[in-house]
Amino acid sequence: MNHSTTLSLLSSVAMAPRDPILGVTEAYNQSTHPDKINLGVGVYYDDRGKVPLLDCVRAAEAALQLDPKPHTYLPIDGLAAYNKAVGALLFDGCTALAEQRVVTLQTAGGTGALKVGADFFRRFFPEAQVWISNPSWENHAALFESAGFVVNHYPYYDAAGNGIDFAAMLEALEHVPTGNIVLLHACCHNPTGLDLDEGRWEQVLGVIARRGLIPFLDMAYQGFGAGLAADGKVVRRFADGGLTVFVSSTFSKSFSLYGERIGALSVVAADADAAARLQSQLKRTIRTNYSSPPEHGARLVATVLGSAPLRAMWEQELAAMRERIRTTRRDLRLRLEALAPGRDFSFLTRQSGLFSYTGLDKEQVRRLREEYAIYTLDTGRICVAAVNSGNIERVAQAIATVSA
Ligand code: LMR
Repeated sequence: MNHSTTLSLLSSVAMAPRDPILGVTEAYNQSTHPDKINLGVGVYYDDRGKVPLLDCVRAAEAALQLDPKPHTYLPIDGLAAYNKAVGALLFDGCTALAEQRVVTLQTAGGTGALKVGADFFRRFFPEAQVWISNPSWENHAALFESAGFVVNHYPYYDAAGNGIDFAAMLEALEHVPTGNIVLLHACCHNPTGLDLDEGRWEQVLGVIARRGLIPFLDMAYQGFGAGLAADGKVVRRFADGGLTVFVSSTFSKSFSLYGERIGALSVVAADADAAARLQSQLKRTIRTNYSSPPEHGARLVATVLGSAPLRAMWEQELAAMRERIRTTRRDLRLRLEALAPGRDFSFLTRQSGLFSYTGLDKEQVRRLREEYAIYTLDTGRICVAAVNSGNIERVAQAIATVSA
């Protein structure tokens, strides 16, 4: 093939659509509107609209600077101290952990964990299909499809009542073929903000066990819902539920370490031997993707989780972020109810975590963008943590008007 043939081949590549989430930030960044607001991406902002640098992270950074180290490669599965700390955080008190049936591998964010898991499953279970909630984080379907899977949806959101259609969800799971992979949001469901209660989780666990399905729990927002321990309960329950479980987790949000890409993939296996074999294969998957993960975020998290005072500081800071989100939900609901009397905005305080699924449709979202320079996802998901005392009035006015 000569040079000009290659050029013409590549010139037929079409423009990709903007990413449904990060593309909103791109559009927001391009706007020159002086009062533009980005409610799109799932990032925690403080009341001044800034991404916080947590004090615990600042302290860990200072400690690391006192003991500078050369930047050599980490092992394929990451920093051992980090993996141990993550395992202890996620599986605290679990029999599976005590029985050494859990392996944790450091990954490039939660997305990296999902991708490593997806590539692994595709290699060993090429016939399996993937089931995700309808709706789900937009990247779930894209990521599993790009790993080669057929992705199906199980019902989740009930638009009429802004709640969960649990009967339909359970019924759908009852018909998922054995050996298929079911992706579940362990807490703070993205995008709806609606989580199952304990009794419903037990029923889901029951179906998954009975039908021989493989649960892949995605936990990106531990600590943003009801608290660190309460949000982690589902992962611990599944870990001790007698199943092989995959868990993706990240410290992007809970440590405000977005750019460090610091996450983990954990696997709960049948026994220690199976855990070691799975770990060896997952390491091959990582090696052929990006070889080994970056170091700095892992050192920061390991330093904080490995020090009692820094960990206490982190838990306090996480609690403050959670509280601010809760207060903002309440305030936004009150403002909207004042602006649009008789309309029901109770979903704001029924949902939890970073997101609210507002029920706004694509056209209403377009109006928010074009008439108010308020950017959010076409699905109507908003990031509650992007609302603050400086913009809440404008956000409420805009939502009340476009949804009237
Ligand atoms: C989100 O849902 O907005 C976040 O998880 C950020 C992302 O990577 O999409």
